[in-house]
Amino acid sequence: MPQSRTFKSLMVTGGCGFIGSNFIRYLLTEAGFSGKIINVDKLTYAGNPLSLNDIAQNYPDQYQFVQADVCNTDKIETIVKSFAVDGICHFAAESHVDRSILSPQPFIDSNIVGTFKLLEILRKYEDQFILFHHISTDEVFGSLEDTGYFSETSPYQPNSPYSASKASSDLLVNAYANTYNLPITMSNCSNNFGPYQFPEKLIPLMLLNALASKPLPVYGDGKQVRDWLYVTDHCEAVWTIMSQGLMGETYVIGGDAEKQNIEVVQEICDILDKRWPTKESRRSLITHIKDRPGHDRRYAIDCTKIKQTLGWQPKESFETGLEKTIEWYMNHQKWVEKVQSGDYRNWIATQYDG
Ligand code: NAD
Ligand code: TYD
Repeated sequence: MPQSRTFKSLMVTGGCGFIGSNFIRYLLTEAGFSGKIINVDKLTYAGNPLSLNDIAQNYPDQYQFVQADVCNTDKIETIVKSFAVDGICHFAAESHVDRSILSPQPFIDSNIVGTFKLLEILRKYEDQFILFHHISTDEVFGSLEDTGYFSETSPYQPNSPYSASKASSDLLVNAYANTYNLPITMSNCSNNFGPYQFPEKLIPLMLLNALASKPLPVYGDGKQVRDWLYVTDHCEAVWTIMSQGLMGETYVIGGDAEKQNIEVVQEICDILDKRWPTKESRRSLITHIKDRPGHDRRYAIDCTKIKQTLGWQPKESFETGLEKTIEWYMNHQKWVEKVQSGDYRNWIATQYDG
């Protein structure tokens, strides 16, 4: 097993988003992290400081939030210097494929330019040996047919503006690792689900619509396949890589849980029906609508490398993770109301329902 790296002052970008907030909570409440965490987030529609209210209250000496755009070099540089940052975990990004189809510009700005700006700061402070972990997605590899898996050696073939922007950032990160020999690790993960996910993504959208007896908008035939990973398992994988991963290496991360979208939606309906029966099964709310343009058919991951070299593996199955997720959304109505009151109008579905 590789040697463990430690950090005194970790900057987490995008820490008010879904995975970033789970990562900060995981570090402080589960991983026993004893250093400082500086959460740097621009607070787009997807960023919500409420997601870390308890952390801000319970860990005032260890946790600090700074509102900043990763494109704002002056501000980020000041943070890096004043907090003596020795590690960066870079989650900040525009993350929703449908939004990238309707409005790509913010994806270019935050995902490509934002990452580039951070890399330039890393280059400027190279003598301080700041480890940079870049978070990416399996979507950079494009779409699979019925067989085969993505791995660290899969060619890049992004199809959506979102995946193209993430692929561009990956290539820049890789180039900086090779050219400037900067301390960098990278990961490409499959679809996450769990607490604090903004309800425009498949699972929370369907869950909340089903509870409200609203239509469940399935794109096309619903037979597209995604691999699902419970968010805490992703957080643990990222922390394992940051602590023990080989410098310059990429690791793909997945949940060994391939599901067709329609199966996911049916499973959500069935769990809700069992707990809170309605006259008619919630499956009757399923509505097939116009497909997403350029919709990738299948994603699947072979994560042998991280399992064999770093000993990580997912703890939750899709089923146990889904039960926990449903439970969480049922118990966090306030959070749901808050995020739904902002730039949330279930508007994506109506865009395609042509
Ligand atoms: P999210 O949309 O929930 O959160 C993104 C966060 O980044 C928000 O808090 C937002 O305010 C912040 N942000 C956006 N642009 C910013 C900028 N320019 N400067 C500072 N902050 C900015 O996204 P998520 O689902 O938590 O995804 C986090 C990362 O993980 C992204 O890089 C995404 O590509 C990657 N990823 C996500 C998944 C998934 O299933 N959600 C899977 C694999 C990889
Ligand atoms: P999503 O959660 O947006 O993640 P990604 O596009 O990054 O995989 O979507 C997951 C899958 O669910 C994807 O194949 C698109 C599909 N989908 C629907 O069928 N209906 C919806 O309302 C949404 C949001 C997604």
